[in-house]
Amino acid sequence: MRIIDLSVLLFLICFRKLVLSAEADSKQQGLAEFPEPLTEAQFNSEIKSGLHILDFYSPYCSHCLALAPIWKKTWETFQEEGKMLNITFSQIDCIQNGDLCAREKITAFPSIRLYGPSGYIKNFPDSSKRSMETLIDFARQEAYDPANMEAVDMKSSSELMTGEFFKDLLAGKGNKPYLVSFWPSRNMKSSDDNLDFENCEECPPFQRAWKVLSKKLASSNISTGHINCHSSASLCNELGFDDLVNIRNHRADRYPRVALVLPKKHTNNLFLFGSKYSTSLSDYEDFAKRIYFNSQTPDISVEEISQIVQKDFQLSQLSDFAPVSQKIHVVFSYNPETTVPEDLHVLEYLIEPLSKIPNVYLYKSKEDMKKATKLAFNQMYEMINYNKSEPEKTPKQEYLDVNVMPQNPALYLFRDGDSVPHMYHGYSTTEMRNVDMIVSWIEELSLPVFNEINPSSIAQLLKFEPQMYSGIAIQVVDTSDRLSTEKSNKYLTNFKLGAYDYEDVRMQSVVDRINAKRTQKAETSKALKKKGASSKAIVAAAVKEIPHLDDSKIILGYLDISRSKSGISKMGFGTHEKDYKVGDVFVLHKPSKYLYKYDAFGNVLTADSPYIIRETLVAVLLPEKSLLSKNMSSRLLNSPYSDTFKLFDVIHRYGFWGYSSVLLLIVIICRGLFKYKNVKVGRKYRAKRNTVGLLGKYGKKKLKD
Ligand SMILES: *[C@@H]1O[C@H](CO)[C@@H](O)[C@H](O)[C@H]1NC(C)=O
Ligand SMILES: *[C@@H]1O[C@H](CO)[C@@H](O)[C@H](O)[C@H]1NC(C)=O
Ligand SMILES: *[C@@H]1O[C@H](CO)[C@@H](O)[C@H](O)[C@H]1NC(C)=O
Repeated sequence: MRIIDLSVLLFLICFRKLVLSAEADSKQQGLAEFPEPLTEAQFNSEIKSGLHILDFYSPYCSHCLALAPIWKKTWETFQEEGKMLNITFSQIDCIQNGDLCAREKITAFPSIRLYGPSGYIKNFPDSSKRSMETLIDFARQEAYDPANMEAVDMKSSSELMTGEFFKDLLAGKGNKPYLVSFWPSRNMKSSDDNLDFENCEECPPFQRAWKVLSKKLASSNISTGHINCHSSASLCNELGFDDLVNIRNHRADRYPRVALVLPKKHTNNLFLFGSKYSTSLSDYEDFAKRIYFNSQTPDISVEEISQIVQKDFQLSQLSDFAPVSQKIHVVFSYNPETTVPEDLHVLEYLIEPLSKIPNVYLYKSKEDMKKATKLAFNQMYEMINYNKSEPEKTPKQEYLDVNVMPQNPALYLFRDGDSVPHMYHGYSTTEMRNVDMIVSWIEELSLPVFNEINPSSIAQLLKFEPQMYSGIAIQVVDTSDRLSTEKSNKYLTNFKLGAYDYEDVRMQSVVDRINAKRTQKAETSKALKKKGASSKAIVAAAVKEIPHLDDSKIILGYLDISRSKSGISKMGFGTHEKDYKVGDVFVLHKPSKYLYKYDAFGNVLTADSPYIIRETLVAVLLPEKSLLSKNMSSRLLNSPYSDTFKLFDVIHRYGFWGYSSVLLLIVIICRGLFKYKNVKVGRKYRAKRNTVGLLGKYGKKKLKD
């Protein structure tokens, strides 16, 4: 008995020590404990400064119970960043604090709301999922919102830098990446200083942007600094920012410049931000974050790629606060035993050009990425076998074979939510190290699976690589409320399914064309042999490369009628925007700019049926593969004519030349008619002259002279 008691006691002492030391550990790391819900008194005093996201809950509501663990995890994950941004997550138990909740007019549980020093600001959007990610996105969004600047009382984290310090960074002495801004000033200590900048209208607004940027980047481990070009003249001159040192033209405006320096390197470590000033903070954020990310070129696994290609694209009602990002992942796949360091050098040279293509992220992998492409491809075929009355579709192995070569190292490209594999055709070492070739390959494939369509993006998409993409298919969506958003997302799923189903037909047509060319080639060399041509000619014919035309591709887009009300008519999709409903689809044939709004049976095209989407895409883009292509009716994009006069589209399509030709034609016809008339009249006169002598045509002319 006693011995057992003693051992229990010893155990308890031991355990207490363990617990105590764990507590000490967490204190040492500066991690606070998850706090108790606020009392009314605490609420009153805490909201006086900073921003607060409050969860008003009841311990008896089931949604509140479901939220509790998410809330705790969010609080833990965000506490460090929250301190920096002056925004906290707190809870209020409305059963314990009935008066407070009544005063704040809480009518449902849980109620998630944002408060500032002057009280209630707004609700966490009802339609958003209550997840850690969306809660943190919401917190960041609000902390960085200029409307809340005062409540947050944010100070810039940017450090004042000298030219010498910057040169040390360039020499590789830094251990963190630095985003540095250059100003036309002499003694700006903090980048928040209130200064009168000469000839720099952009400077004060950029100071505010820089403050927010300094906070945002600090949470991604990127430091920020600022340099006064008037006092670091030689550095600024060397970097080509002469105008920040001296005003040469008193009328011209100047703007601050930005550069990123990567740590622990002394070559290829300086990146200058674009050639133009941008008013968009996210451009600078993306510039810094993506270059840093890509310079680290993290490893990625086949498993991670499978997750990426399965990502479901979902519109959210508030895309402003949680923008839908669809990333492009470029993977350098290599075998460490056979790859030489020179092969990897190409990655370093890709960083700069890739920073100019949106959403591209660079990785490396020692795993066999061919496996990832097969997995993705199989998954696509699982999806498109949705129609049991059609013969089973199987992965186009031949297509994969012409696209995916077993080689090492190799470059693969995967897009968020896209099962179609892409591989770089670098057959030789030179091609694998040709940065320009690789960059243009990535550029061609760099569109997201779903492109947002608005007047400026449609213009760009119409110009985008016309040889490879022959069409743009656009689905109408509406994100103004939860129900419409859900409906839009459902339609988008069907829409993508139809596009994949089309992709299967398209890949078969690519393979068919290659095979036809191969047959032709074989026949040519057979004929040459028969003719007894020189062996040189035969060899030349045999090694002639078969062009690999992976074309007739389709670009997918969505057009949000709640965001661009006048968009539809502005983009030339017709004048009656109210006629367009969620789920409607238009197909735009890129080379001819003809727009298809009806399927082959004369019905309005919608994403209801992936089968109809496929049939329509085939009829428009691969007419030789379709029996329905003759039934398709179309209109010219931006046509000024109503349906009755749609024949005039043909003329309108050729613009100035179209109308000029028609005008010319009219002139020719008129002249022809006129001549014909003249001939007739002449004959009449001649006939008359014969009878009345000089009173003929010639006589009249003479009188005029
Ligand atoms: C948070 O904002 C308040 C003003 O609302 C300010 O007094 C306080 O210093 C700020 N705290 C931090 C850590 O910036
Ligand atoms: C920042 O750096 C620290 C250590 O250098 C690391 O532990 C942390 O994960 C990094 N955070 C991010 C967001 O990269
Ligand atoms: C399945 O395919 C057939 C033609 O092959 C078509 O008539 C039918 O509408 C399709 N069904 C669905 C559900 O798409």
